[in-house]
Amino acid sequence: MSKICINIAWPYANGPIHIGHLAGSLLPPDIFGRYNRLIGNEVLVVGGSDQHGTPITVTAEKEKSTPAAVADRYHCINKKAIEDMGIQYSLFSKTHGDNHIEVVQKVFMDLLGKGYLYEKETDQYYCTGCNKFLPDRYVEGTCPNCGAKDVRSDQCDSCGKTFEPGDLENARCIHCGNEPGVRSTNHFFFKLSAFSEQLMEYAGSQDHWRSNVKTFTINWLKEGLVDRAMTRDMSWGVPLPMPGWEDKAIYVWFEALMGYLSTSIEYSKMVGKPELWKEYWKNPEAKHYYFIGKDNIPFHSIIWPAVLMGIGGLNLPYDIPANEYLMFNGGKLSKSRGGAIDIPTVLMKYDADAVRYYLSVNMPDTHDTEFTWEDFQTKINSELVSALGNYYHRCLSFTHKNFGKIPGADAKEGAKEVLDAIRAALEEYNECLSKCDFKKGIKTVMELARFGNRYFDSVKPWALIKSDKDQCGRVMNNNLRIVKALAVMAWPFMPSSSEKIWEYLGYGESIEKSGIAAVTSELPAGKPLSEPIPVYKKIEIESEEEKEEPVGVPEAYADFKSLDLRVGRVLSAEEHPDAEKLFVLKVDIGEEAPRQIVAGLRAYYSKEQMVGRNIILVSNLKPAKLRGLTSQGMLLAADDEALGGTSVQLLRPLKDLPPGTKMNSGLKNSSSMIEYKDFQKIKMVVSRASGGKVLCNSMNIDLPAGSPERIAVIVDGNNALVLSDGKGCVATVDSDIKDGAIIR
Ligand code: MF3
Ligand code: ZN
Repeated sequence: MSKICINIAWPYANGPIHIGHLAGSLLPPDIFGRYNRLIGNEVLVVGGSDQHGTPITVTAEKEKSTPAAVADRYHCINKKAIEDMGIQYSLFSKTHGDNHIEVVQKVFMDLLGKGYLYEKETDQYYCTGCNKFLPDRYVEGTCPNCGAKDVRSDQCDSCGKTFEPGDLENARCIHCGNEPGVRSTNHFFFKLSAFSEQLMEYAGSQDHWRSNVKTFTINWLKEGLVDRAMTRDMSWGVPLPMPGWEDKAIYVWFEALMGYLSTSIEYSKMVGKPELWKEYWKNPEAKHYYFIGKDNIPFHSIIWPAVLMGIGGLNLPYDIPANEYLMFNGGKLSKSRGGAIDIPTVLMKYDADAVRYYLSVNMPDTHDTEFTWEDFQTKINSELVSALGNYYHRCLSFTHKNFGKIPGADAKEGAKEVLDAIRAALEEYNECLSKCDFKKGIKTVMELARFGNRYFDSVKPWALIKSDKDQCGRVMNNNLRIVKALAVMAWPFMPSSSEKIWEYLGYGESIEKSGIAAVTSELPAGKPLSEPIPVYKKIEIESEEEKEEPVGVPEAYADFKSLDLRVGRVLSAEEHPDAEKLFVLKVDIGEEAPRQIVAGLRAYYSKEQMVGRNIILVSNLKPAKLRGLTSQGMLLAADDEALGGTSVQLLRPLKDLPPGTKMNSGLKNSSSMIEYKDFQKIKMVVSRASGGKVLCNSMNIDLPAGSPERIAVIVDGNNALVLSDGKGCVATVDSDIKDGAIIR
């Protein structure tokens, strides 16, 4: 039994994790961790949310929130998404936590004491437009190495080159667009150069590393190592453990890497064995694996090992199976560049195991792979369902129906043929998984499933059951042995469906406990079988339209999505010649000609109050004649008459949005014409925001400062969605009205 420490790259808590993270760095370690537990190894899995650095502060500014709020919100969302995906950590921690900060500060002092840190004046981008130092991501420009445009100032995503301030060509401040200057500031530097030889020796002897990792690392080392600034001019991050440095933080990369160690320590305390981490970090027999995406290679193969060497006495990475990129429409699947498919949304539509299967067979392990929903559908339907799912189901349902229990075993050649196939598959499987070759590993499982299907067809149990029931029982025992082998071997890839098969086979103990020996073990006759339900379902992908909705929005709100809501500005207001309650308005909604709207508001608003104001218009309501004049739409207003009130209030966007701006809460809506009766199906009410937060589908939406107390929400069952432009601007009413006032 060996000890394996599985270290998983820390996703930034600046947005929901997406399938790119899964394929790149989250799913592989879970497969590996489960496999190791299956073969009886002791496994520690550590990682968490990377909550510091400019990715978080940039997002906070965009969302008009604080870094702490952003970092904690996405930490919660991502922790849950990871669990829902079946990915098991010993502890999924976060970098803005007491334990992490304490460990990082200790390491900092330790390195300082050992002479590996020194103070130096250094250059940094400074924007005179914004009057501040601009850290990494606040500056973009052209890569001096490969010419890629719009790369960040710390690293080029295209060629992997890292930069120092001033390196970038055509640099510009992402806030104001000015070309930033470079000013000097004081920082702590890490003596990376002191480790050159030791690192070369270390990396040079890692013959089991993937060639992309090894080549990249050796080339980097050959270029010569320069000392790197270990602090940054920013307040969000791990503070320096000494006075006089309050306006600086430890550079996010250094401290995030230390998270592997801090989380191991935190976990040990959590389980009441404070010394446990040492068995993984100080015991030279324990092996450390780091699962990362390729843009993280130098940090894990050079910088982190150097820090570990500096601390001394801790295990260096044994393997760093870095994956390439999962591409989406030709671009890298990265939330910082758009086009992402986030996990919470994906999980609303598909089972975790289906996604895990597709990403296993399409894993970007040695080269970039392409993700498409069409391919996802094809692979699920024609491989997972047709080969594996179908085999499981035909074996289990046939045996259950005809025998009700596991029939007696076959001692003859039939059994040998089956056992040989299982053994051969297992051998290859072990070979692949122990080397982190997961893509080939899942293939060995699928090939065994195909063998199973061929075997089933060749022994024709449906005919045998009529001619020779005993013989039929024996061949079904063989089939179920294949089923059992498949369930165990597939478990690291698709845990929850494999566990169901396990239950159908009548096992009480878990697959994990039974261990890898269960792949080849006999199947005890007489064990009762329970009635199986197919574990994999065919899928049909939805149209492009519905793929990019915001997180946390369920399939609901279908009626609401039939509305096309637009911001409008009232250009003029006249009294209706024939109706004393009605106004005839001209409203600009960003189209060429203003719309004519007839609205019953004269009892509540004066002409002067109407002209120039913003409203929200249902723009796709079938035109209707009201007392002889056509109304091309309807203004949304709240009234509390049903609640005993007398107030009627027009809705308006909180900020002065341009006419025509969509107010569909970021949902894809239909713009085809609807009837008034369709509109009446939609329940919208006025609700109150408390403490700047609104609870919406169990997600906290932070309202910007100065937000109104009263906001419009769409209600669907137990869910409520805040009416907004989908970019943070909510809909509000002019003044007080009862909570629950109906909007129509
Ligand atoms: N947050 C980084 C990224 O998404 C990865 C950090 S891995 C760590 O690229 F180990 F450094 F934390
Ligand atoms: Zn600027």
